[in-house]
Amino acid sequence: MSEQTEKKRFEPKQPVQLDPPKDDPITMEELSKCDGTDPNRPILVAIKGTVFDVTRNPAYGPQGQYHVFAGKDPSRALAMSSLKPEDCRPDWYDLDEKEKTVLDEWYTYFSKRYNIVGQVQGATNK
Ligand code: HEM
Repeated sequence: MSEQTEKKRFEPKQPVQLDPPKDDPITMEELSKCDGTDPNRPILVAIKGTVFDVTRNPAYGPQGQYHVFAGKDPSRALAMSSLKPEDCRPDWYDLDEKEKTVLDEWYTYFSKRYNIVGQVQGATNK
């Protein structure tokens, strides 16, 4: 794959205007409240401790197909291509290299679509 093609991987079909990333600390408790059930809060998904605002995508809302990820750091589930609630956990370091690559690809995918609004407080798995 050429370098140019590589850079374009996971680009959204429609360009997305992103804000500068924030590194505000976000507690797991606050994150869990941002799962789409409270209309006064954004919908957040964290990957490897980095928190993305996915509010504009109804897939993460209460009726959405990926609601299971909302308000969590589901790094493990993303790496494993799993939608099981019990896999929606932040720990990923014991996974195999292929799964870790899949996780990094999801990180790239999200970073091209969603604003980074903070970091999960106490996350050690950057
Ligand atoms: C029957 C199996 C599945 C089908 C048909 C399917 C279909 C899709 C489609 C059509 C999209 C939208 C792609 C786009 O916007 O360009 C998508 C996105 C996505 N899928 Fe799946 N999917 C399946 C299984 C899974 C599984 C097992 C996972 C678990 C990791 C998963 C995680 C995601 C995520 C995180 C997104 C990104 C949503 C976003 O844009 O924020 N999917 N899927």
